[in-house]
Amino acid sequence: MSEEIDWDSLTFSLTPTDTMYITDTDMNDAWMPGELIPYGDMKISPAAGVLNYGQGLFEGMKAYRTSKDRVVFFRPEENARRMQRGADRLKMPPVPESIFVDAVEQCVQANLRWLPPMGRGAMYVRPLLMGSGPILGVAPAPSYRFLVYVTPVGPYFKGGVKTIDLLISDIYHRAAPGGSGGVKAIGNYAPGMMPSKDAKAKGYAEIIYLDAETHTCIEEVGAANFFCVKDGVLYTPELTGTILPGITRDSIIQLARHAGIEVHETKVTAEFAMSADEAFCCGTAAVISPIGSITQGDVKATYGNGKPGPMTEKLYNHLVGIQNETEEDIFGWLHEVPL
Ligand code: PLP
Ligand code: COI
Repeated sequence: MSEEIDWDSLTFSLTPTDTMYITDTDMNDAWMPGELIPYGDMKISPAAGVLNYGQGLFEGMKAYRTSKDRVVFFRPEENARRMQRGADRLKMPPVPESIFVDAVEQCVQANLRWLPPMGRGAMYVRPLLMGSGPILGVAPAPSYRFLVYVTPVGPYFKGGVKTIDLLISDIYHRAAPGGSGGVKAIGNYAPGMMPSKDAKAKGYAEIIYLDAETHTCIEEVGAANFFCVKDGVLYTPELTGTILPGITRDSIIQLARHAGIEVHETKVTAEFAMSADEAFCCGTAAVISPIGSITQGDVKATYGNGKPGPMTEKLYNHLVGIQNETEEDIFGWLHEVPL
């Protein structure tokens, strides 16, 4: 059947697949392994906690075909743990890591015909945890659903790596101290849509958010983490609770340190970033996206004449090499999906 799929036309968009995974629990009960059911719409109470008060989390991860003809996840246990931390924050019952990993594996296995060949994309896996039971007062829902669906996505960079132009928002912030910016709460994302659309209408690829307290330090690039390079040293905003702890971010820090590169997790002011030699953003969807320019008000900083800088390129090759097994998995990050 997979001959019918036109792998080369895949983008980062939804292609419905065959099967999804669902399991439900009540607030005080243990999670039990769920089941695979046909992919499709589901019934939910109009009074569900997730619909009324945004009691929901998502995760985003990819399964890849590798050069060794294996199917692998990249650090799926980290996605499971991040969802558990989010569940604590949103007062939901955390899904055990074993159930999470089993669920994402089952979804990939059941939808294998949708997994693109190596180098032509990946299977994007989307776990969701939501307050599915009815609740009228602002309080945790009485019951919860953990759901996983998958969709094939194309390579982020069609026709090679391109640099992106970014705009610093002078009005909007993504997260405030004490809020939910440090977890993948579904409610963190809709408020970014208007600023992001406005920036795109002006020709930018995405918005850069500064911190809400001082409006001087870079936090994130839309739904991706930020890095810059100056004088051979790698800088990334420290995790202060308002930044999503990206698994790609953490991997890049480890890879860079292993390669002998000095890495600083620190406050990164917009002013400093705009004086840097290279800049990039990273995430599961974006992998590593080199930044060509950053604009703040009427000031525009440019990097690398439309080409990724040397350290950006080196880190990209290293990360993607591990993911498709053309480089050694030195940290044991790959998790094979049994076929
Ligand atoms: N920042 C935000 C707000 C995100 O939603 C994501 C995506 O998950 C990231 C950063 C990158 O995280 P990861 O590398 O784990 O995909
Ligand atoms: C990612 O998976 O890297 C993301 O940023 C998720 C995004 C589509 C919201």
